[in-house]
Amino acid sequence: MQRHIAFVGAGDRQVEQLLRARGLTVLTWSERDLSAKAQQASAVADVVMLDLRGEAQRTLPAGLDAFRRQHPAVPILLLVSALDPALMLEAMRAGVSECLQDPLAGDDLDAALGRIAASRDAGPVGDVFAFLGAKGGVGTTTAAVNVATELSRLRAGSVLLVDLHLAYGDAAIYLAAEPRFSVADALENTHRLDAAFLKSLCVKTKAGPELLASPDRALGLLVDAGRVRALVDSAARHYRYVVLDLCRTDPAVLDGLDPVKKILVIANQELATVRGASRMAETLNRRYGKDRVVLAISRYDPNAGIGQEDIERVVGSKIRHLLPSDYRVALEALNTGRPLALSDQTGLAGALKELARELADLPAEEPQRGGRSIFGRLTGRS
Ligand SMILES: Nc1ncnc2c1ncn2[C@@H]1O[C@H](COP(=O)(O)OP(=O)(O)OP(=O)(O)O)[C@@H](O)[C@H]1O
Ligand SMILES: [Mg+2]
Repeated sequence: MQRHIAFVGAGDRQVEQLLRARGLTVLTWSERDLSAKAQQASAVADVVMLDLRGEAQRTLPAGLDAFRRQHPAVPILLLVSALDPALMLEAMRAGVSECLQDPLAGDDLDAALGRIAASRDAGPVGDVFAFLGAKGGVGTTTAAVNVATELSRLRAGSVLLVDLHLAYGDAAIYLAAEPRFSVADALENTHRLDAAFLKSLCVKTKAGPELLASPDRALGLLVDAGRVRALVDSAARHYRYVVLDLCRTDPAVLDGLDPVKKILVIANQELATVRGASRMAETLNRRYGKDRVVLAISRYDPNAGIGQEDIERVVGSKIRHLLPSDYRVALEALNTGRPLALSDQTGLAGALKELARELADLPAEEPQRGGRSIFGRLTGRS
C-alpha cells in the first residue's frame, strides 16, 4: 500500500519530488490543516514533515502538540535551515522523530525514513487495558465501554474499543453502533493489519471511541493466540488507548494479551463469582505477572453479605476499583446506547470515569480548554 507523507509548510517542488521518488504520496498541508487533523480520529498520514526553513519560522507549530496526542503513532520529521539548539530541544520534547537540514540530500532522507520504519516496527506505543468478567453478566462490557468513552471524552488521544468476543459480543449495542466489519475480518487478515486496513474495519461511535465489533458470522478459521496478539499489537501501534472487552471462555484470546498494560478482572459479591475471580487471577498472575492484573468489583453493595475484605482474602489481592450498583441507570444507558461516562452524574457514572482516569494516569479534572495556562496566569499573558 502506498504511504502518505503530509508536507506542512509553504510547499517546495524540489522536496516534494524527492519524496515522490521514494514512492510516497505527498499531501500538502498548512499549519491550520495540522491543527484540524488533531481533531480527527481516523488515519491522516503515515508520516508528517514540517518545513521550518522560513526566516520567521523558529518555533514548532502551535497545533503540533495536540496532533501528537491524537496520532502518537505518526512520526514527525523536521526540515530546518540550521540546527538551532533551542529548536532542537523543543523538537525533542515534542516527540519529533527526525531532523533534516537544508539542502535536503536524498541519502539523508533515506536514512531518516529507514530509521522511522525501523522504530515503527519496534513495538506498540499505545496503552492497552483489558476487561475480563469472572462470570457472565457482572458488568464487564459496561466497564469497558465507559472507560473507552471517558478516555475519548478527555481527548487524551485516539481510542479504540475492541470487542474480543468471537461471537455474541454486545459492545456495539452499548454504543448504538452499526458496524459493517468486525474482529473476524481482522483475525482472518492479520498479515495485512496496517493502520489503513485496521481503521477501515472500525466504526466511529457517537460516544467518541472507535469500535472494532464482535462478528455476527462464524469465523473462517480457528483463532490462535498468535492472531489475537497480532491484532492487539496492531491496535496498540495505531491508537493511543486500546480497550479490550474479553471473553473469558476463549483460551486463545486470554493467551494473546502480551502487550496489555492492565487486565481488570471484574467480579461481584456472589460466592461463585468470587471463586471464579480467584482462579482467573491466579492463572493471569502466572501468565502476565501480578502487577498487571487488577481486581475490580462491579455492582458493589456495601451492605452485601460478602464484603470487600472477604473478597480480597479469597482472591489474594487488593480490590483496586469499586463500581457501585445502580441497575436503573446502567440499564437506561444500555437501552439508549449512550454510555454513562457522557453524563454529569456522580455515583456509578463518576466511578466509571475515575476508573478510566486512574488506568490512564490522567488528572482528575479535565483541563480548562481555551482558558489561560498557569504560565499565562503567572505572567499575565494569555
Ligand atoms: N454497576 C452496575 N450496577 C447495576 N447494574 C449493572 C452495573 N453494571 C452493569 N449492569 C447491568 O448488568 C447487565 C449486564 O452488564 P454487562 O453487559 O456490562 O455485563 P457483562 O459482564 O459484559 O455480561 P456478558 O457476560 O453477557 O458479556 C446490564 O443490564 C447492565 O446494565
Ligand atoms: Mg459483556
